[in-house]
Amino acid sequence: MLKQIYPQCDASRPLEGTYLDLNLHKQANVGDVFIYANYISSLDGRIALYNADLGEYAVPPAIANGRDWRLYQELAGQADVMLTSARYFRQLAAGKAQDLLPVGSGEKYSDIKAWREKQGLKAQPDVMILSNSLDIPLAALEKVQDRKVMVCTGSTDQTKIQRLAQAGVRVIRAMPSMDETTQDPSTSLGVTGAFVRQSLIDLNYRSAYLIAGPQVHATFIQDACVDALFLTTHFTLLGGTKISGLVDADLPKAQSLKLISSYLDVKENQMFQRFSYVK
Ligand SMILES: NC(=O)c1ccc[n+]([C@@H]2O[C@H](COP(=O)([O-])OP(=O)(O)OC[C@H]3O[C@@H](n4cnc5c(N)ncnc54)[C@H](OP(=O)(O)O)[C@@H]3O)[C@@H](O)[C@H]2O)c1
Repeated sequence: MLKQIYPQCDASRPLEGTYLDLNLHKQANVGDVFIYANYISSLDGRIALYNADLGEYAVPPAIANGRDWRLYQELAGQADVMLTSARYFRQLAAGKAQDLLPVGSGEKYSDIKAWREKQGLKAQPDVMILSNSLDIPLAALEKVQDRKVMVCTGSTDQTKIQRLAQAGVRVIRAMPSMDETTQDPSTSLGVTGAFVRQSLIDLNYRSAYLIAGPQVHATFIQDACVDALFLTTHFTLLGGTKISGLVDADLPKAQSLKLISSYLDVKENQMFQRFSYVK
């Protein structure tokens, strides 16, 4: 059971259904998209630590847990599309990432699959990847070949764009006209949050689940393009000096958040909080 501590105090509820009841796929205004992010963090603000064995940043087992994963899946269940990073696909290809994307695989999550079907949503959310390098291993993309895969990029590298297009990926280029004049395939403009948000709207997506790390999160915050933050805080101090936080980039100004709900999970020693971004 979870103990609700905000907005109501002392109400209890089961873990299952806590986020699935939110109907995030119905939150967007007409002609808009609702974008929500989700992180698990330690009490000292780490979402990932550098793992020397993997040679990568990774979520430490000391905070990753099945109860948080249940809610991660409930949030995925309400998404038309998942927003992720090329680095995730590189980690996946190297066998260094958890297979994060399928919703409801396994008996434990079959209710989420059934819920999606009842809501008239596709079996799996589509996938939008942010990448400037376009270094996305095709082998990793095969794992999501049952849905639409798109890449948002500032790159003008035609060889890489063609390679992805041939693999069935739709490449959406940010501000193409400016770079074409340089004819320099290495030139990257970078993708803005506003560009991705407009692309999602143009593609008629209504709910988008941001599961990428701190750079992509910063990209969206910089343009005030993310609507909700779901944050699990695990009551553990991880320490470390090579760490990732929720936002590892400069922001034009401090981003204020408003608490919407808060649940205490005594069983796993963590708190589930939902915030809106103050715009
Ligand atoms: N604890 C948690 O809840 C949680 C959640 C998510 C991630 N993580 C962890 O955080 C670490 C980093 O995750 P991540 O790699 O997904 O994070 P990220 O830092 O958000 O993404 C990095 C990659 O995304 C692309 N990218 C970012 N911003 C871009 C922009 N504006 N335009 C174009 N491309 C952009 C770049 O790809 P290119 O290099 O191809 O250009 C970049 O290398 C991982 O260890 C992951 O496990 C933890």
